[in-house]
Amino acid sequence: SYVMYNESIIPKEEAAISFEDRGYYFGDGIYEVIRVYNGKLFLQEGHLERFQASASKLDLVVPYSPDTMKSLLRRLIDKNGLTTGYIYFQLTRGIQARDHLYERGTAPVLTGFTKTAGVPFAKQTDGIDVYATEDIRWLRCDIKTINLLGNVLAKRAAEDHHCAEALQHRGDVITEGSSTNAFIVKDETIITHPQSNYILEGITKRYVLQLAKQLNIPVEQRPFTIGEAKEADEMFMTSTSVEIVPVRSIQGSFEAGYGHSPVTRELLGEFRREVE
Ligand code: PDD
Repeated sequence: SYVMYNESIIPKEEAAISFEDRGYYFGDGIYEVIRVYNGKLFLQEGHLERFQASASKLDLVVPYSPDTMKSLLRRLIDKNGLTTGYIYFQLTRGIQARDHLYERGTAPVLTGFTKTAGVPFAKQTDGIDVYATEDIRWLRCDIKTINLLGNVLAKRAAEDHHCAEALQHRGDVITEGSSTNAFIVKDETIITHPQSNYILEGITKRYVLQLAKQLNIPVEQRPFTIGEAKEADEMFMTSTSVEIVPVRSIQGSFEAGYGHSPVTRELLGEFRREVE
């Protein structure tokens, strides 16, 4: 398979990363994951805008124009013959001797790969169990940084409790999953954490809220609590890779269970029709 290394698309075996890459020493970099359906990038524009925004927030400069980025992503997908899956790409602050103090002006390092990945139909049909755990991350979760320790620990804890995803909460407020956004449905209204420094504003989240609008389903973007999650009629998670998955049960710091989830299924049906 082929990978992206700066402006080149090269065989994976030929790719090498420097020992002194700041991504390796400090997790000093950002990333994006974009879905590919039938060879086409889904919501590419939103992902590239968020990539740019994450870079700006970290005083990083994306070294290529949006058009160059698009053509690089296209070339990698074509070269690998990817039909359904995703493309991952990241940008680190580049190669510098290890020092907390970063220099400006060093060439950043862009890398990327593609992966074949189907739609998780079984999870979408059956729903998933999620593991509620305290959100121990830093206060800039709006930045899509490759530094994901809080997220990976939450994900491991979920798996260790036989749950497919984590559900993070800061005290009483539910923030998001380890790599998904979280929603509840109460009396046919969708409630989800608003865009803020406490969550990553999902591109899928935004798309789903747009679908809700088209379907005349009311939406409230505000923080919601553990108490509200327990009382909710439905819960679901969204991301680039899972699209929309209903939550079947919550375990961990608190417990809850959900039934048929009609609003979630209506949204998922609409989502699937749009991307097919
Ligand atoms: N994760 N919240 C977090 C913490 C995430 O890492 C992600 C995405 C999301 C959903 O964002 P989007 O809808 O734009 O994919 C929410 C990606 C898929 C990942 O890390 O693999």
